[in-house]
Amino acid sequence: MKSFDLVSTSPEQTIEIGRELGKQFKGAEIIGIYGPLGSGKTHLIKGIAAGAGAKSAAIVNSPTFVIINEYKGKFDIYHIDAYRLNTTDEFEALGFDDYCYPHSVVLIEWADKIDSALQSVDYIRIELSHAGQNLRKIHIANLPLHIKCRHLIG
Ligand SMILES: Nc1ncnc2c1ncn2[C@@H]1O[C@H](COP(=O)(O)OP(=O)(O)OP(=O)(O)O)[C@@H](O)[C@H]1O
Ligand SMILES: [Mg+2]
Repeated sequence: MKSFDLVSTSPEQTIEIGRELGKQFKGAEIIGIYGPLGSGKTHLIKGIAAGAGAKSAAIVNSPTFVIINEYKGKFDIYHIDAYRLNTTDEFEALGFDDYCYPHSVVLIEWADKIDSALQSVDYIRIELSHAGQNLRKIHIANLPLHIKCRHLIG
């Protein structure tokens, strides 16, 4: 497992970083995506979903009202938006465990909200933060060894 930092200089680059990450997925990945409003979580997820083979990545949006979106393709990709969840019990009640299986990829947007629910889970942790108008710092932790960082740097 490893950690590293990247800087994205545009929304397109954030999507591209996500795509390079998603391309290297093998299934059974859980990704917690942290960061404040407008830090680029949905852009990153768009890229990850496309890279992981979602056929409908063009329609990736924050699933703010439905809480969970599903994108079919190479894997069953679940995009959970935890923004409206107030407790980790609400998160568990969604049936989180049922979404995690060998052929799925689970992307959790606003993981800040349910952080403690992920303590017992092996997940890739990605933290985004503002570093300027079009600059975003992306910290990736707990990345499986088979994922090559150099592909993400472009
Ligand atoms: N380097 C960058 N990477 C990603 N987004 C950027 C970047 N620079 C500027 N932006 C802008 O920041 C915003 C990021 O929006 P996005 O919806 O991806 O954020 P979010 O973290 O999902 O927000 P929310 O908390 O509302 O769900 C967009 O308006 C985008 O154009
Ligand atoms: Mg979003």
